Amino acid sequence: MRILLLGSGGREHAFASAIKKSNLCSQLFIAPGNPGTSKCGININILPNDFSAIKELVLKEQIAMVVVGPEDPLVNGIVDFFMDDVQLKTVAIIGPSAAGARLEGSKAFSKEFMIRHGIPTAAYQSFTVKELEEGTKFLESIHAPYVLKADGLAAGKGVIISSNLAHAKEELKSMLTDQKFGKASETVVIEEFLNGIEVSMFVLTDGENYKILPEAKDYKRIGNGDTGLNTGGMGAISPVPFVDAEFIKKVEEQIIIPTIEGLKKENIVYKGFIFLGLMNDNGNPSMIEYNCRMGDPETEAVIPRIKNDLVELLQAVADEKLDTITLKIDPRSAATIVMVSGGYPGNFDKGFPITGLDKTLNTYIFHSGTAFIEGSIVTNGGRVLALTSLADTLEEALAQSYAAAKIIHYDYEYYRIDIGQDLLNFLL
Ligand code: AMP
Ligand code: GLY
Repeated sequence: MRILLLGSGGREHAFASAIKKSNLCSQLFIAPGNPGTSKCGININILPNDFSAIKELVLKEQIAMVVVGPEDPLVNGIVDFFMDDVQLKTVAIIGPSAAGARLEGSKAFSKEFMIRHGIPTAAYQSFTVKELEEGTKFLESIHAPYVLKADGLAAGKGVIISSNLAHAKEELKSMLTDQKFGKASETVVIEEFLNGIEVSMFVLTDGENYKILPEAKDYKRIGNGDTGLNTGGMGAISPVPFVDAEFIKKVEEQIIIPTIEGLKKENIVYKGFIFLGLMNDNGNPSMIEYNCRMGDPETEAVIPRIKNDLVELLQAVADEKLDTITLKIDPRSAATIVMVSGGYPGNFDKGFPITGLDKTLNTYIFHSGTAFIEGSIVTNGGRVLALTSLADTLEEALAQSYAAAKIIHYDYEYYRIDIGQDLLNFLL
């Protein structure tokens, strides 16, 4: 089968590595891909939002399956574009329809969906530009910390948490009236603050059946000890020691089943990954957010633990036969360390040559922000590489990934040195 994967990050490199291993894949194309994915297939310089160029490529290359990595094309309706096109509708496309992608694309919609289907989540209200006064009054009526969220996609930056009422009011005003996050903050969700520890769970569904994939914990802040600005993710580990069978059962009963049933009841076509951003408060799950795709860097920790043939799994999604598959999960621990450009998530320089990429042992090196320039691989983004190791214990997996990080060099490299430490302490 000829397969097209859309996206260009570490997540896509992890997908590409797994797809390439499958005997069912005769040729993999990645659009646009990165130097890492070029080792797994053919990179094509087309952006995931350029639907007409993607159509041309799919027809020319006789692609039978398209796997969508990032959220943007999904929110923009790439799945509907395929379903509505006579020439494309027989192509298997992995990802939700635009209606399903709204679970990520609109926080107000996703909160309403959770409430409609009785899914545990923080109490909230949403406000539009015309309702600044009501929003301000609402802030006055609740307790700190205040959680404000831009309704739309804001590249992971649209959430403000403040313990100061005056500051929260200022932020609400700047989001609504000054469009701090552009159109994304024309509507703002204000919600109750949830206590607990965060964890991400992933579900693959064919619309009827579902499989629960390994969970992961992501480290979002730039600084050690969870300090500083939010990033796309500085590391991930899987499995997560505090996620036990009882917690998973609660998530399945209270969140996953109502989500799949809710999508069906609302006639929302959803064949793809559902990312559950969860808070674990003393063993009780509460939904923070849905994403309509896999996480990055969580994918880099989760995919290496899935022993099934990924293409077979995705084909079962397309054929609505996920119930015929038994997941085979590697019981070992995966630890992913993200190496970034110094300055990220603020301004940073790029174009620095990367050395040591071929010198590491027993570690997957997933490329994220890299480029080929004049025959060498250089830094080309904030998040540069994701290094994943698998080992019998979390401690060993972390040690292996950190050993690899010490071998790889480029100017102004930075990575957190405490990924997984909180959980090692938890295991003691
Ligand atoms: P989101 O974009 O919704 O994932 O929010 C970004 C981050 O803000 C989350 O990963 C949490 O760390 C935090 N967060 C969001 N909503 C809440 C909440 N209601 N209570 C506590 N923390 C939250
Ligand atoms: N790592 C968080 C995300 O992919 O949204």
